[in-house]
Amino acid sequence: MNIALGPVMSIKDPIYLGRSASNEAVNVTMYGKNMMLNGEPGSGKSGLMNNMIAQVSLMPDARMLGFDAKLVELMPWADVMDVFVGPEMRKALQTMLWIQKLMDRRYDWMSRNRIRKLVPSPAEPAWVLFLDEVAYYTSVAGTKVEQELFSALFRDVVARGRAAAIIPIMGTQRASFDILPTALRDLFAYRWTGRATTPGSSDVALGAGWAEAGYNAMSLDPKKPGDSFLLAEGNAPQRMRAAWMTDEEIQTVAAFAAQLRGHRASA
Ligand SMILES: Nc1ncnc2c1ncn2[C@@H]1O[C@H](COP(=O)(O)OP(=O)(O)OP(=O)(O)O)[C@@H](O)[C@H]1O
Ligand SMILES: [Mg+2]
Repeated sequence: MNIALGPVMSIKDPIYLGRSASNEAVNVTMYGKNMMLNGEPGSGKSGLMNNMIAQVSLMPDARMLGFDAKLVELMPWADVMDVFVGPEMRKALQTMLWIQKLMDRRYDWMSRNRIRKLVPSPAEPAWVLFLDEVAYYTSVAGTKVEQELFSALFRDVVARGRAAAIIPIMGTQRASFDILPTALRDLFAYRWTGRATTPGSSDVALGAGWAEAGYNAMSLDPKKPGDSFLLAEGNAPQRMRAAWMTDEEIQTVAAFAAQLRGHRASA
């Protein structure tokens, strides 16, 4: 029996991030884009990531991969995501290799069919990669060779993924070159940062020169996690406060999304 459920969300729709300083909704469209979340510990990166995952989980033309070295941040979505990677370097590498292969196969098919940009559908969905605290895989876990391999694979996926509807969204406390290769960091189009501890780390997050121009994440309120700057569609960073979902709200959406996707939901 087919039951009409009303309007269905799509990865081509805007994703709600929070409110601007003038209390207007702040949205971004992630289709064909990518995003980096920065900020000191406790500044709201995982909160915002959960908020984005909740919306993508309800989009039938998107599937998700999660990387979470801390386990607890993205764990509520483990039943919703197709692959969930914890603090396991081997699995992180295998998953990156898998998504790279998928990307290569898509480009091969697209070139044979003269398609320049893949339009996602439930049959050929966008793949959204959520990586919380990516520094774990690029500079903490495994051997130096494994870290470099992870960075190289991820860089390739970020650099070439756009037209193949592969959408990386990553968070990191710090994005300095010793933690994240600059060549990888500089590929990210959309940049969000919570509070930073120095004007230098603010510029690493948003791009060189913004702190001096008055967009300094060190000036954000440390008592207000989610207080942030977003550099996305506009010409300059926008001050905003990220929306926040409680654990209960997250569990409710995750259970519904797992059902929607026909995934088995654990207790
Ligand atoms: N947008 C928000 N509005 C209100 N409170 C928030 C918001 N974001 C985060 N918080 C509060 O701040 C705490 C820390 O937020 P969060 O875990 O998202 O930080 P983080 O940047 O991911 O930190 P870490 O780098 O340690 O992982 C949350 O547990 C919550 O209590
Ligand atoms: Mg976090």
